[in-house]
Amino acid sequence: MVERVEGTFFRRLFSPILVGRLELANRIVMPAMHLSYTPQGFVTDRLVEFYAERAAGGAGLIIVGGCPVDEFGGGPYMIGICRDEFVPGLRRLTEAVHDHGVIVGAQLYHAGRYSLSRDIGHQPLAPSAVASSLTRETPLEMSSEDITRTVRSFADAARRASEAGFDAVEISASAGYLISQFLSPVTNLRQDQYGGSFENRLRFPLETVAAVRAAVGPDYPIIVRVAGNDFVPGSNTNREARLFARELEKAGVDAVDVTGGWHETRVPQITMAVPRGAFSYLARGVKEVVSIPVISSNRYSDPMLAETMLRHELADLIAMGRPLIADPGLPRKARRGRADEINSCVACNQGCFDGIFTGHPVTCMVNPRAGREHSHQLRPTARPKRVTVVGGGPAGMQAAITAATRGHQVTLLEKASRLGGQLNLASAAPGRQELGTIILSLRSQLENGGVSVEFRQDTTAEDVLLSNPDAVVVATGAEPIMPELPGAAARHVVQAWDVLAGAVDVGDSVVVLGGGATGCMVALYLARLGTIDASTLKFLALNRAESWETLEALIDKGSKKVTLVETQSKFGSDIGLTTRWTILQDLHRSGVNMVGGAVAERITPQGLVVSVDGDKSLVDADTVILAVGVSPIDDLYHSLEGHVAELHIIGDAREPRRAVDALREGFETGFLI
Ligand SMILES: Cc1cc2nc3c(=O)[nH]c(=O)nc-3n(C[C@H](O)[C@H](O)[C@H](O)COP(=O)(O)O)c2cc1C
Repeated sequence: MVERVEGTFFRRLFSPILVGRLELANRIVMPAMHLSYTPQGFVTDRLVEFYAERAAGGAGLIIVGGCPVDEFGGGPYMIGICRDEFVPGLRRLTEAVHDHGVIVGAQLYHAGRYSLSRDIGHQPLAPSAVASSLTRETPLEMSSEDITRTVRSFADAARRASEAGFDAVEISASAGYLISQFLSPVTNLRQDQYGGSFENRLRFPLETVAAVRAAVGPDYPIIVRVAGNDFVPGSNTNREARLFARELEKAGVDAVDVTGGWHETRVPQITMAVPRGAFSYLARGVKEVVSIPVISSNRYSDPMLAETMLRHELADLIAMGRPLIADPGLPRKARRGRADEINSCVACNQGCFDGIFTGHPVTCMVNPRAGREHSHQLRPTARPKRVTVVGGGPAGMQAAITAATRGHQVTLLEKASRLGGQLNLASAAPGRQELGTIILSLRSQLENGGVSVEFRQDTTAEDVLLSNPDAVVVATGAEPIMPELPGAAARHVVQAWDVLAGAVDVGDSVVVLGGGATGCMVALYLARLGTIDASTLKFLALNRAESWETLEALIDKGSKKVTLVETQSKFGSDIGLTTRWTILQDLHRSGVNMVGGAVAERITPQGLVVSVDGDKSLVDADTVILAVGVSPIDDLYHSLEGHVAELHIIGDAREPRRAVDALREGFETGFLI
């Protein structure tokens, strides 16, 4: 239950705590997140303004980075700390955070075998020459000189952090980076005193901690970020994580930050399908064996969940990474009892994790201003205009909100009976329900911004012009393509959108034509029909009602036979890199028959005839589901051309793309008007 104490909600979350000598005003930690806002490593206005806004929002502790400790540790676009020349910029960053009374730490980072040779200009270094499935590179085994030098690099970086005004350092020993590589028997095959027994594998981590301690002095706070369980076969589990944490406490570390597993794990760590707070049990396990503060991480976007964790003493602090990218004001809103106004992270990863994995600076789907705080201040307009936005999907809603925030008088017209456009369909797929919360958030922003929303079918150019708008934004979205395929007009052929909308029935045996994002999602949706949900699983397991084998089958094997057919050999190529593998894994586990490199020839009453390498075959199906792409709906735009002073076309109506692009374009357009 949330108590209201002197105007403060979430009392535990907003209670102070000591980390070493530091008193944090509350328990919200913004964990290290590589943002790619620092080309060549130097602090930029973009980085400073990004963090200044998060500090103003009221987080208790902000950890910036990872900051590679030397040239082998990570790419040049990460925040530099490996040379003294970075210190003045870092000081500017710490001052900007301190201006808001917030404590700031720097994460000291070395990726080891996760470094890319194209970034660092050398073959990566690691405890042993074990190839990485993440980078597809094999590192060079570190010599004892390399080890000594790297330990010194950590210490020198810590000294620079302290000189730059950071209040604490966090040593990265999680996610499969260098220190976890030393700890793990999978990646540390050394025969010397750094390999073999757990005690030997601990040597490098503990030498690093000792060197950092010596560099910063006895009472400078040191946090260590650990993997709660590597989730890699043969590697460390929660058991070793607890042992490691205990050793860290003995070594004088002031707090441990417990995350999930390695980048190479096959257990999704931060995708939307990961339940909120799923890895809290890992922090709890560590907290049971140490008396220093424990930070719990991953998927805490809800302050209520954070409060519950703290209240039950399962952790002492809660990391909120992407949730603070999504809404820098989250702590302030929660504290003032306005949690329902929080713009929640939905863990889509489209702008952030996918961004950095494809070499782009971090953006955010639900907060298109993230990373543009320095260039996009939402100031009131000097010339308020009458703006009509046609289309209440993500692009249209965001354009309306941004324009209204700037003081324009905005009307939004939507042809369906509800707002949200394709987000309504996307949120029907398994593990994608949180997409629905974006609609709720956008809807409440529309309301708060005073946007007038009208539901009206078949809006014509004349309808739009009747109100004599100064600016019109066309965001009319897209519609599914009907392929020119013999038999496509038959009654047992339906569109994937209609299946996801629950508008049509399908048979027991289905074939989905088109293995892009929509095809994969609809195939998974159908393959999971008839499986048991999380609460049923817990009920059956708690009551020992079924064997684990039966339960395992019941969670992912549904009642329908599903085949997914794709022309290319690659499925889900338009799904973000960091989510795609999880969807493909789910499709395999749910028994979806995936036929790649297949050209659809025709649809018959018995199913779909395909040709693979020239060999024709029939995929039996009662229902054929089409997911072959969408085309823009742009007729209204063309009818309005030349008739309004300011006309924009955005989102899928302009060109079908991802939701992150639609929302960004909506924001940019609303900002420009
Ligand atoms: C774009 C991005 C960059 C990240 N970079 C780092 C990093 O440099 N060091 C680190 O320890 N964790 C990093 N993480 C992991 C986050 O600190 C955090 O543990 C993760 O996002 C899960 O927490 P959340 O659900 O609150 O976002 C990164 C995550 C994201 C999304």
